[in-house]
Amino acid sequence: MAAARARESERPDRLFDDPLAAALASTEGFFWLDRMEPTQGFGGPALYVVVRTRFFDDFLLYACWGAGVRQVVLMAAGMDARAFRLNWPAGTRLYELDRPEVLAAKDEVLARTGARPACERRTIGADLGHPSWSEAFSETGYDAREPSVWLMEGLLFYMDVTAVRDLLGVAGALAAPRSLLGVDLVNRDLLNSPTTRPLLAAFARRGATGRFGANDPEGLLAGHGWVAEATQAGEWGANYGRWPYPVALRGMPGVPRVFFVRAWRSPSR
Ligand SMILES: C[S@@+](CC[C@H](N)C(=O)[O-])C[C@H]1O[C@@H](n2cnc3c(N)ncnc32)[C@H](O)[C@@H]1O
Repeated sequence: MAAARARESERPDRLFDDPLAAALASTEGFFWLDRMEPTQGFGGPALYVVVRTRFFDDFLLYACWGAGVRQVVLMAAGMDARAFRLNWPAGTRLYELDRPEVLAAKDEVLARTGARPACERRTIGADLGHPSWSEAFSETGYDAREPSVWLMEGLLFYMDVTAVRDLLGVAGALAAPRSLLGVDLVNRDLLNSPTTRPLLAAFARRGATGRFGANDPEGLLAGHGWVAEATQAGEWGANYGRWPYPVALRGMPGVPRVFFVRAWRSPSR
């Protein structure tokens, strides 16, 4: 993901600038990306990651500047450098959760670059596939009475249904009224389509098996107390003049889809 962001940052028409991405990707990340690209199909990982990054950059900035939120929770942050590269309002506290070894490797790179976060950054090493992550998280200063914005980017795809349900349940319980949630996910057809099979097989060979898809993201999130709006990659608001593939209207059956979802905590909760 970081390698894709590094390549994007070199373009004159870049959708964002991520000066730390190349260091975070390391040669291993670029090698991975170059091996994945020939499988193209459905945009290939680089295009998808770039469009997704910009979409959720805008969403997070809206949450903080427009909706007044000051707690940002990046689930499965990986090599995400938003804490360093986005323009956060004063008083923003940003939490990054991921596996302990991933965050340790990231912090090692960041220390070498001497980069300084543009907000208050806190990291929590945890297994998000187990609901106990919330215990470690609750000890970090996060205030569950105040609104927050959550991002689950590049995560649900890798989880099984039970883990997704648990994750949404636990995160929902920690999200006060006026909180927001951003999520990307694929539909079930994408997991079973001949068009996407080469891409999925390439992911699986590198230990990133696709497990979870949902055809009705709005319904999935409604069940966890969120009012959600799903945008397909390539649609208005998620195209940026960069997504070259036609987007099938919702309701047409059997079409592989990727969704960028923005959600608001239901007022009734
Ligand atoms: C595809 S990367 C996405 C990273 C980041 N959100 C981005 O877009 O660049 C998936 C991330 O999910 C993390 N991850 C996957 N399963 C996890 C789990 N059970 N607990 C914690 N992190 C997990 C991985 O370590 C990895 O950093």
